[in-house]
Amino acid sequence: VPTGLQQLITARVRSVPDYPTPGVVFRDITPLLSDGTAFSAVVGHLADTFGGEVDTVAGVEARGFLLAAPLAAVLGCSLVAVRKAGKLPPPVLRTNYHLEYGEASIELSEGAVAAGARVAVLDDVLATGGTAAATCELLERAGATVTGLGFLIELAALRGREQLIGRVVHPLVSY
Ligand code: PRP
Ligand code: ADE
Repeated sequence: VPTGLQQLITARVRSVPDYPTPGVVFRDITPLLSDGTAFSAVVGHLADTFGGEVDTVAGVEARGFLLAAPLAAVLGCSLVAVRKAGKLPPPVLRTNYHLEYGEASIELSEGAVAAGARVAVLDDVLATGGTAAATCELLERAGATVTGLGFLIELAALRGREQLIGRVVHPLVSY
């Protein structure tokens, strides 16, 4: 990742101590989203990274949608929304997972991703890796192949990659 792009990102991520729970430093991408030039550079870089190797981009609710949707549109490939439990009509595949500050369940609509599809998973933050691993599990249960994962920010100290062993992980910046 070019150093200039990394600086563009780190200068536009706000770190908020003790949110949403004591001891967590929340990485807020709101300032990056506010800057059209910087955000466009991010999406362009993701398109260079994943272009040609995927049929589908998967975004994890909610902040993953912000990256997955523009990437799918630029690549002209299909987009799939992995949603928090209770938002999608049946039939769905569902799994439970842990994340840095809690537990949750996510779902994927059956039939939303073609069996055999090559999928890139996009999210803003890789923290403990629970969300990303659960997303891969759902996509693979649906018969897809996860070719790689893209993140704006990796919080390396939380060792999310240990949940993603054997997978190709592309963080734009690592804290
Ligand atoms: C955040 C973030 C990732 C996840 C990473 O989402 O957008 O999806 O946590 O944490 P992990 O690596 O420890 O699993 P959150 O569940 O807070 O939901 P939001 O996108 O709806 O804010
Ligand atoms: N998701 C999990 N941990 C996070 C953090 N520290 N900041 C932003 N999003 C997160």
